[in-house]
Amino acid sequence: MIKLITVVGARPQFIKAAAISRAIRTHFADRINEIILHTGQHYDDNMSAIFFEQLEIPQPKYNLSVGSSNHGKQTAEMMLKIEEILLEEQPTAVLIYGDTNSTLAAALAAAKIHIPVVHIEAGLRSFNKKMPEEINRICSDHVSTLLFSPTQKGIENLQHEGFNVNNRPPFHVDNPGTYLCGDIMLDNALYFSKKADEQPDTIIKRLNLTDSNYILVTLHRDTNTDNPDRLKAIFRGINTISKTHNLRIIFPLHPRTQRKIDELPDSEIKDILANNPLIAIIPPAPYLDFIQLEKNAQLIITDSGGIQKEAYFFKNKCLVLRNETEWVELIELGVAQLCPAHKRQIVQGFESLYNKHDLQYPQLYGDGTAAEFILARILENFA
Ligand code: UD1
Ligand code: UDP
Repeated sequence: MIKLITVVGARPQFIKAAAISRAIRTHFADRINEIILHTGQHYDDNMSAIFFEQLEIPQPKYNLSVGSSNHGKQTAEMMLKIEEILLEEQPTAVLIYGDTNSTLAAALAAAKIHIPVVHIEAGLRSFNKKMPEEINRICSDHVSTLLFSPTQKGIENLQHEGFNVNNRPPFHVDNPGTYLCGDIMLDNALYFSKKADEQPDTIIKRLNLTDSNYILVTLHRDTNTDNPDRLKAIFRGINTISKTHNLRIIFPLHPRTQRKIDELPDSEIKDILANNPLIAIIPPAPYLDFIQLEKNAQLIITDSGGIQKEAYFFKNKCLVLRNETEWVELIELGVAQLCPAHKRQIVQGFESLYNKHDLQYPQLYGDGTAAEFILARILENFA
């Protein structure tokens, strides 16, 4: 029996961890003992607890309750506490996901005390080190022993940074193993899609969206939320889009964005919302509701990483409110389009994507069995 500690802290990590926990329960319960460690980076019920319930993730054995703060303080507090737990638990390996401060804290804490790090969603790059996530990814990858990339592009990025993708086992931090594994978020999208449709009281019915005449919007990147001009430009853009096309806008609001709107000295965004009844700001949605919204929307506008791919899984189109993306294959295919946060460009970007039809959706991200593949490789290496 090997012991894995899964470190999670932010919303997308709960969702990714659900796929691994489910695969352990279903296929490897006699060989893998998993302990969940929640850093507490996200803590509101609708950003954390609801996902554990709905996605049947085992309750965390540890919750560090670090909460929100500046990058250094938040990461350092996590590291202090993670190190203590790792020293006590002595796991076979630590599992980390993606690129948040929780990812980085766990990677550094584990690697420094020679506990192997397994990085799921390795190799992704935006080539923009002003993004905190880019720093988190690069540092995490370079102290990992097993690196699981969802895309061929991720493998190439690792090669360019000096990783030898032909390394042979036994793998260790100075001889890391790299694998192309497909996207673990697809495992969940497939598994939960039917469950989401079968809910007795779907969000589509509750919000009276059965005609699908709506755009789904999410926003939380610091480049968009922390710059008042951009934040306002985005709201001006969606306001124009909704009025021009008589489209409803369903906008589950991330708490970071809510805080930034509340802190603005002027009321422009609040006035837009008060004067356009087509725009519905709703609280962060539970996963099953959210994927229903993704499936039924005319189009998705977002700066999220995970939502770009889910739009693709559900054969939708995505306007990405960023200058670059880690998911370059979506841009190459034309199903997603990058769009800087200026009102005119948002409206123009929307018009060109909205009017695109006959798009192709080849199998870019595997077949929805990434979790099983990852766990089998972990057992090969560590059992
Ligand atoms: C974090 C990740 C980002 C990821 C996102 C997913 C980092 C650096 N950023 O960004 O990569 O895409 O999560 O959603 O790790 N807040 C609450 N309640 C909560 C959580 C947050 O009110 O439960 C508010 C607080 O005001 C906090 C702000 O949101 O200061 C930002 O939270 P934080 O976790 O620092 O970053 P995110 O923007 O959520
Ligand atoms: N998500 C959700 N409810 C919401 C918004 C997003 O369940 O209101 C899910 C979404 O389906 C995806 C993940 O959260 O699986 C994306 O997380 P987020 O956008 O916060 O972070 P990112 O992927 O950009 O790191």
